[in-house]
Amino acid sequence: MAAKKKPGTPEPTRRDFLYIATGAMGAVGAGAVAWPLVSQMSPDAATRALASIEVDVSSIEPGQAITVKWRGKPVFIRNRTDKEIEEAKAVALADLKDPIARNENASTEEATDTNRSAGEGKENWIVMIGSCTHLGCVPVGLAGDFGGWFCPCHGSHYDTAGRIRKGPAPENLAIPPFQFVSDSTIKIG
Ligand code: FES
Repeated sequence: MAAKKKPGTPEPTRRDFLYIATGAMGAVGAGAVAWPLVSQMSPDAATRALASIEVDVSSIEPGQAITVKWRGKPVFIRNRTDKEIEEAKAVALADLKDPIARNENASTEEATDTNRSAGEGKENWIVMIGSCTHLGCVPVGLAGDFGGWFCPCHGSHYDTAGRIRKGPAPENLAIPPFQFVSDSTIKIG
């Protein structure tokens, strides 16, 4: 018999579940593979190896996200749905609290959706450092008033392009240096 649900307790949605499951697997997988290799290297080689990581994103469906670790920081990789991309594109730059892209991979500095994503043809992918620009908490994905990320520490809401829209955080979530090295592999760093 199914466990009785407490009144007022929200059921986790399928999207929540997938987020949690894929996030956990991503973190365990990356750690388990990286450590034995790195532990046998010289200190110099180990530093170089950890400076960049390659992540296979082929199993991340639209609407799902994983979190990987890069240089000790969480990095969010999300495959956005068409609806999430459209919502982000519909926002006027004048409405943004931080109009700067915070993405050194982009060709211009404006915080357009294209400049925040992996770029033309790969706009469904967004890769960001998972550290709130207020005081560094890790925001929660698929949450908040704008459907992007929500930082529960002091209530910062980020949109589906990771741009700060409401709350005390001053800047958009930072984007690390990254590139697709094949159709389904992202190199970060
Ligand atoms: S650390 Fe995120 S809102 Fe304060």
